[in-house]
Amino acid sequence: MASIRLEGINKTFGKNKALRNVSFQVEDGEFFCILGPPGAGKTTTLRIIIGLETPDEGKVYIDDEIVNSVHPSKRDLAMIFQNLALYPDKTIFENIASPLKRLKLDEQEINSKVVEVAKQLRIDWMLKKKPAQLSGGERQRVAIGRAIVRQPSAYLMDEPLSNLDSLLRLEMRLTLKELQTSLKETFIYATHDQVEALSMADRIAILDKGVLQQIGLPGEVYRYPENSLVATVLGNPSMNFITCRIKENKDKVCLIHEAFSAISDKDALSTDVLSSLNTGKDLMLGVRPEDIAISLQKPTEPSVMGEIYVTEPLGNKTIVDVKLGEDIIKVIDGPSFKGEPAQTIWIRMNEAKLHLFETKSRKCVYHASEDSPVRIDSVHP
Ligand SMILES: Nc1ncnc2c1ncn2[C@@H]1O[C@H](COP(=O)(O)OP(=O)(O)OP(=O)(O)O)[C@@H](O)[C@H]1O
Ligand SMILES: [Mg+2]
Repeated sequence: MASIRLEGINKTFGKNKALRNVSFQVEDGEFFCILGPPGAGKTTTLRIIIGLETPDEGKVYIDDEIVNSVHPSKRDLAMIFQNLALYPDKTIFENIASPLKRLKLDEQEINSKVVEVAKQLRIDWMLKKKPAQLSGGERQRVAIGRAIVRQPSAYLMDEPLSNLDSLLRLEMRLTLKELQTSLKETFIYATHDQVEALSMADRIAILDKGVLQQIGLPGEVYRYPENSLVATVLGNPSMNFITCRIKENKDKVCLIHEAFSAISDKDALSTDVLSSLNTGKDLMLGVRPEDIAISLQKPTEPSVMGEIYVTEPLGNKTIVDVKLGEDIIKVIDGPSFKGEPAQTIWIRMNEAKLHLFETKSRKCVYHASEDSPVRIDSVHP
C-alpha cells in the first residue's frame, strides 16, 4: 500500500506544456481517477509517477519519500497500459508468471501466486492457452493479472478499457472495482470516459490542457462543478449553457433570455455575480438535461415555451433537443416521449439545480440550492 503525492509538477515537450503546476495527493488504498479529454496530460502524469518521464519542475512522493531520482524499477508500482502487450508465444500462465520469474522466485511459489491471481480474475481455466486464443476482455484480464501478481504497492492504469467494446467495458469496470475493493490497494486510473470515472472512483481529478480543474468526490464534482469545463466533462448529454444578459431590478438580479428570465435575490448571490452585474457582462445559465421537465400541454405551473427541434429515442430514455429562442438545449425524458419536431412544448427547469457561469473565464459563480433557488419566469405568460 502506498500514498502518492505530486507537488507543483510542470512538464514541457518542446513548446508544448503538457502539465502546468499539477499537485494532488492520492491516499493509501484509494481509487483515484484522472479524467480528461485527449491531450489533457493523463498519460504524462502517470509516466511521471512511475518514473518513465522526468518532470521539469516539482516533486513526486511515494509514502512521503521524494522519488524523483529513484529508478522506475525501484518505485514498486505497476502500470497497465491501453495497448497491452502480452507475449504471444507464451501461455497465459507464463505471461502472468513473467514478473515473478524476473524476481527469481521459486517455482512452487510462482505457481501458487499465478493460480491465486487467475482465480481472483476468473481466468484460471485458460492458463494453458495462448493470447491469440482469447477475447479482448480475457486478454485484458491477463494483463491485469500480470500486473497484480507481484503485489506492487500501487497500480497505475492508463485507459485500460478503451480498446474493449461497451459490454466488455461494463463487465471490466465491475471486475476492476471488485479487485480494488479486495486488494485494498491504491489505484490511479486515467480515463476520458466520465462513466468510468463516476462509477469507479473514490475521488476524481479533472484535468484539461495540463491544468488540474477540480478534485472531489464523484457526487460533489458532478453537483458542484467549479467551471463549465468540469460541468461539460461530467454528464451525458452534458450540461446546457444558455447565455443571458444580466440586469439589476431593485434587490433582484435578472438574467434575460429571449424565452425566459431567471431571477435571484441579490443577497443570495456571490460577489462574482455582482461584479458581472457592475461590468454588465453576460452570464451563462447552466442546467443539466435531467434537471428539466418537458410537457406537451401547457402546465399550470410557471413554464417556458419552446419548440421541439429533434428527438432521439434511446430505448430507456429519450433525448429531446428543444429550441428556446435561438438556443438549442437538451432535455432527458422517458422512453415513451411522443413529441414531434416543430411541435410547441413547455419546459420547467429545476430551480434548485441551476448554475451561473462567467462567459469568458468559464468559472462557476453560483450554484442554486433548495434554500436559494434561481426563479425562472416565462416571457410568454
Ligand atoms: N513524448 C512526447 N513528445 C512530445 N509531446 C508529447 C509527448 N508526450 C506527450 N506529449 C504531448 O503532451 C500533451 C499531453 O499528452 P498526454 O499523452 O499526457 O495526454 P493524454 O491525456 O494521455 O491524452 P490521450 O487521452 O490522447 O491519451 C499532448 O499535447 C501531447 O501531444
Ligand atoms: Mg493518454
